[in-house]
Amino acid sequence: MHRSREIFPQPGGSGGTCTCPLPKIIKLYLLCDFQKNSGLFKGTLFMSTLQRYPPISPKCPALLHGGDYNPDQWQATPEVWDEDMRLMKAAGCNAMSIGIFSWSALEPEEGRFTFDWLDTIMDKLAANQVFALLATPSGAKPAWMSARYPEIRRVTVNGQRERHQGRHNHCRSSPIYREKCRMINTRLAQRYQSHPALLAWHVSNEYSGEPCYCGLCLGTFRNWLRRKYQDDLGRLNQAWWTGFWSHTFTDWNQIYPEDSTVHGMMLDWTRFNTEQTIDFFKYESGPLRSLTPQIPVTTNFMGLCPTLDYWKFARAVDVISWDSYPSWHAPEGDVAVACQTAFTHDINRSMKGGRPFMLMESTPSMTNWQAVAKLKRPGMHLLASLQAVAHGADTVQYFQWRKGRGGVEKFHGAVVDHCGHEKTRVFEDVAEVGCALERLAPVLGTTVRPEVAVVYDWETRWAVEGIQGLGHNLKKYPETVISHYRPFWAAGIPVDVIDQTVALDSYRLVITPMLYLLRPGMAQKLSAFVAAGGTWVATYWTGIVDENDLCFTGGWPGAGLREVLGIWDEEIDAGYPADRNHVAMKAGNLLGLKGRFEASELFGLIHAENARVLATYADDFYKGRPAVTVNAFQKGEAYYLAARTEAAFQDAFYGALIERLKFTPALAARLPSGVTAQIRSDGKRDYVFVMNFNDQPVTVPLKAKPARRELLTGKAVKGSLTLPPFGVQVLASEK
Ligand code: GLA
Ligand code: ZN
Repeated sequence: MHRSREIFPQPGGSGGTCTCPLPKIIKLYLLCDFQKNSGLFKGTLFMSTLQRYPPISPKCPALLHGGDYNPDQWQATPEVWDEDMRLMKAAGCNAMSIGIFSWSALEPEEGRFTFDWLDTIMDKLAANQVFALLATPSGAKPAWMSARYPEIRRVTVNGQRERHQGRHNHCRSSPIYREKCRMINTRLAQRYQSHPALLAWHVSNEYSGEPCYCGLCLGTFRNWLRRKYQDDLGRLNQAWWTGFWSHTFTDWNQIYPEDSTVHGMMLDWTRFNTEQTIDFFKYESGPLRSLTPQIPVTTNFMGLCPTLDYWKFARAVDVISWDSYPSWHAPEGDVAVACQTAFTHDINRSMKGGRPFMLMESTPSMTNWQAVAKLKRPGMHLLASLQAVAHGADTVQYFQWRKGRGGVEKFHGAVVDHCGHEKTRVFEDVAEVGCALERLAPVLGTTVRPEVAVVYDWETRWAVEGIQGLGHNLKKYPETVISHYRPFWAAGIPVDVIDQTVALDSYRLVITPMLYLLRPGMAQKLSAFVAAGGTWVATYWTGIVDENDLCFTGGWPGAGLREVLGIWDEEIDAGYPADRNHVAMKAGNLLGLKGRFEASELFGLIHAENARVLATYADDFYKGRPAVTVNAFQKGEAYYLAARTEAAFQDAFYGALIERLKFTPALAARLPSGVTAQIRSDGKRDYVFVMNFNDQPVTVPLKAKPARRELLTGKAVKGSLTLPPFGVQVLASEK
C-alpha cells in the first residue's frame, strides 16, 4: 500500500473494478446534466459562454482511461488477449488506442488483407465495454511497400533516399503512399463503421513535420511558393531579401530549401512543411470523414514540437490530443517540470477555444528514451494524470498498455509488465487513476475562460531560432515565455496560451514575451486591445521583423507598437554567463515595487518616449537608462520589460499586476511554493484541482466559503487542506 492510498481510502484496483460509493450518483448527475447542456443534443457545437462541452463521443459520456494497445504483436499467443481484457477492467480502463503500427499485420503482402485478428479484438473490446480509438497505420510502412515503391521513403537533406527503417519517415508528397493510405483507411472505415467499439479515429502517429528533400517534395514546395507569390519571382526575391550574398533567383527550380542563410526561405519552408503535413493528414482522413462522419478524428500532437505549427493543424482535427512525457524527478526539479507541463496542457486546451483535449499518451512509470529512465515516485502517477485533467483533459491514456518482448520499446513503461499480472506497483498506480477518473465524472466537458493570455507563437519561435545574433545559447524562446507564465501558474490564476492568430478581446491581460516577429494584423490587434482598456506586457526584442523576417525600419518596436508602448528600443546588449546587471525600482513607482532585481543575458537599451519609467538599470554604461516602463495608451496600459530578469522580478511584477487588475485565483488562498490550483467549471459548479509538486507535505489554508467537497474521497472540506508529497485533491463547490 503506497502513499496515495492514504488520501484515497477505497482500493481502486488490483483486484477488481472501482468500488467507490460515488459513481452511481455521479453517473446519474452526469447523464441529466450532459443531456441538458451538451451542444450535441442542442445541435450547436461551440459555446462562447462557460458551459459544459459535449464528450469526445456521445457513445461514452465519461472521462476516458486507457492506452496504446498492440495486440497484433501477440498473435502467436492469443490467450494473452483474454488476459488483457480482464486486466483492462481491473485497471478501470474504458478506451484503447489500437492498430497504430499494424500495417504489416493488416496487409502482410500487397493486396492480401488479414483483418481477422482486429475483428476479434474489436469484438472483445465491445464485449468488455472498452472503446477503441482506432488508428490508421500510416505511422510505419511495411517493408514490402518500401522495397516495391522506393519513392515512399524519405530523402535526406543530402539527397540520399533512406533505407527501410524506423517509422514516421514516409514522403508526404508521394502519390503512391497517399493512395496506399487511403486504400487501407477505406477498408478500416468500411469494416468497422458500425462497430459498437469504434469511438474515435487516431490518425497515424505523431506526424513530425520533418522535411523530405525528394524531387516530389521540392516540386510541391516550388508550386506552393508560386501560389504564395502569385507566380512572381520578383515578389519572392523581395520578401526573402535575396540581394544578400547574391541569392537572387531567376528560376523557380533554383530554389533548394537547405540554406539557413536565407531567413525568409527557411520560414516559408517550415510553413510549407506544416501545411504539407496537414494536407497529408486530410488526405488520409478523407475516407474516415466520408464513411464515418459521426466519428471524431484526431491525431496525437507532441507538445511544443518545433517543426509543426499546431495552431494551423488544430483546425483540421475534431478534438486535440497530445502525448506528454515530462522528465519527472530530473535535476531541474519537479516544480519546474510541472510548470512546463501545465503550460503545454494550456496550449492544447486553448487551441480549440477551451474545448477539453485528450491526453493521448503518457507513461505509467518511466520513459525509456529520456536521458535517465527514472521511475515515478509514489503519488506522481496520479498527480501527473490529474494535472492533465486539471488543465482541460477529458482523458488519461498511456503509452503503453503491455510491454512487448522485443524491439526498442520493450523497456518503456507500461501498464502490464513482462511479469504479466496485476500485482505490481505500476498497475496499482494505474488502477488508482482509473478509480479517480470515475469519481471525477462530473468534471467531464467542463472548462475555463481565463482573463490572462500568454502568447507562444510557432512562427515567432522559428524566426527567433533562425537569428544569427544575441548569442549562441541566449535566445531561449520557449523558456522565456514559460518564465512569464510561471507566476500565474504559481498563484493559481488560469491562463490561456495562445498564438498571434487568436482574438484578444476576451482577455484583460495579454503578455507577449519576445514577440520578435509580428504576423499580419498582430500590431493592430495589440494596439486596439490596449486602446480599449486592456493591459499588455511586452519584453525586449519585440516587433523587430515582419512576417518575412525583414527588419522594421524607423525604430523598434515596429508597425506602430512604438507608440503603444511609448518607448524606442535602440540596441540590445548580450551577456556572458557571469555578466550581471540590476534593475532598480524607482521610488514611488506605479506598481509599488521596491528594491533591485538581477538581470542577465539580454539587456535592451531603450528610450522612454511617452512611457513612464518604473525601473532603471543599476550598472554598466547604461546605468540609469530605463529598464521597466509603462505607457498609458488611450484606455489601457502597455508595460515594457527591457531586460531578461531573475524569477523574483517576475514574481514581484506580476504579483503587483494581479493585484492591480484584481484577478481571481482558482482558490482564494495563498498557495505554498510548488503548489498550484487550477479550475474547471460548467458555469454553475467549480472544480478546483489543488496539486502539490513538492516531495514534502503542505498545508493550504482555506476560506470558509464557498463550502466544498473533495471528489476523490467524497468528504466535506473545512478549514485547511493537507496534501501529502505529490498529493492532489479536487474540490467541488457545493451547489
Ligand atoms: C511516442 C510515440 C509512441 C511511443 C512513445 C514512447 O509518444 O507516439 O509510439 O514511441 O513515444 O515514449
Ligand atoms: Zn518527398
